[in-house]
Order: sequence, then C-alpha cells, then structure tokens
Amino acid sequence: MSGIVLLHDLDGLRAQVREWKRQGLRVGFVPTMGNLHEGHFSLVRLAREHADRVVASVFVNPTQFGPNEDFSRYPRTPGQDAAGLQAAGCDALWMPSVDAMYPYGAGNAVRIHVPGITDTLDGAHRPGHFDGVATVVARLFNQVQPEVAVFGRKDYQQLAVIRYLARDLAFPLEIVAGDTRREDDGLAMSSRNQYLSAEERAIAPAIHRTLLAMRDAIRAGTPRHQVEADAEAALRAAGFAADYAVVRCPDFSTPDADGAGAERVALVAARLGRTRLIDNLEFDAG
Ligand code: PAF
Repeated sequence: MSGIVLLHDLDGLRAQVREWKRQGLRVGFVPTMGNLHEGHFSLVRLAREHADRVVASVFVNPTQFGPNEDFSRYPRTPGQDAAGLQAAGCDALWMPSVDAMYPYGAGNAVRIHVPGITDTLDGAHRPGHFDGVATVVARLFNQVQPEVAVFGRKDYQQLAVIRYLARDLAFPLEIVAGDTRREDDGLAMSSRNQYLSAEERAIAPAIHRTLLAMRDAIRAGTPRHQVEADAEAALRAAGFAADYAVVRCPDFSTPDADGAGAERVALVAARLGRTRLIDNLEFDAG
C-alpha cells in the first residue's frame, strides 16, 4: 500500500490535485472533523467507487459550534485518523489550520446562509450551526475542487443543506450520500458516542428502536402527532431529553396525510447527559 499524502498548506493541496487532474484522474472528497470511525471509512470506500483518487479533510470547524457546545473537547486524534484513512484507501489527507481556513479570522469570515431548510429541527435547536457548516464546506470545495464529494445520511439535514449549497452556488461536482453505519445494537456510529458513560451507552440504542417504532406506527396508520408524542415519551422513559422526534417529508415539510407509498423520514435528536445524539430513518409510509 502506498502512503497517504499529508497536506497542511493550500499550495501543496492544489499542486497535488492539479497533478491528478493533469493525469485525467477524477478526484473524490470526504470532509470530516476527524476522530474517524468505520462510518467515515465507509464514506472513503464509497468515494473510491466514484473517483480515481480520494482526498479526506480533517478540520474541527469552529464556526459550526455554538457557544455552549463541545468545540474545545471535540476529540482530536490525527495519527489514528491518518492510519485509518490510509487503510480505507484514501490518497491524501488535507488538514488545514484555522488560519488557513479563515484568513481573516473565524469571526470575520464571509458566511453562507442556506435559507428555508435550516429554519427547522437542528437549525432551530442549534442557531448558526448550518451557516457554519455551509461556510466551511464551500471553502473546502474551493480548496479541494473535487469532482465528487461524499457525505453521510446520518446527518440528514446537513446533507440537504449541502445539496442546496452545491446546486445554488453551481459547484461543478456531484454529491453522493453514504448509508449510516450502525453498531450491532443499532446505535448509529458517531464520534460523540465515545462521550457516553457505560450506563449511557447501554441506553443509547433506544434512539434507533424509537425510529423503527415510529416507522411501524406510521405504516399501521397511527396519526403522525400521536407517533411523535409516543416517540418523545419513549425517549424520555429511556432517560433522554428529546430536542425533537418527528416524521417529515424528505424536503422537511410536515406531511398532512399519511399517504400510502409516500416517502417519509423519521428524525430524532436527543440528549443523554451532556451528549447530544441524532439519527434518522427513511421509509415509505405504505
Ligand atoms: O459532518 C461533519 O463532520 C462536518 O459537519 C463537516 C461536513 C465536515 C463540516 O465541518
């Protein structure tokens, strides 16, 4: 296996990508905040199916964390990340500094706001979060200039925000979505899972069970309001404080009727102690 190229400065990244493009190679991109796990590595493998060379980025983006969120304690594991990426078939790792990402400082950055879909759910519970995501992802697209970029379906609303951003700003790239990877007990893989105590870790799979129960109840004809109330109650009984447990259309509009065959997504965000977990389940209501 040839070694992964570690890139810390923009000139080096540009020279590498330019060289691949000169050779006619298609470049895939997987942006991350590091502390990588099998969920990320599966996105790298998916990128490989769509591209000849794969760049991953590791950048813990300060502009997408709220004042009371976990920016400073977000786990940073660069050595482990590089080894895992190399084993997953990643060719280059882009690790910009905050200064390289935000030359005028994070507080003076040109910010990007995606309207509409960021008003609800995580956008409502984490004000400014998706502005920070859109702001950094636009920069990353300009820096890496990939032909294809891969994002996980676990961050369902983030994926919608990025699709909107890429289309609206005419980035010349394709967005590909990767399926959520789960532990054997159904818990969606996430860097935040490691914050959970042993007791919380035992409770956490209740989120996935709740999503399955929401799907089954909608399919059985239970009114949406009842399904959402029952889901919140189940999460509360398990020990969570739920930010939301909702059933939506894929465009985040609220379904007025539970039409057979209609596409739906159940979305949950819930806090267990100090850790906030999100997950979702796409299904058809028929
Ligand atoms: O999903 C993430 O890890 C981050 O939100 C992203 C897309 C890398 C932007 O910082």
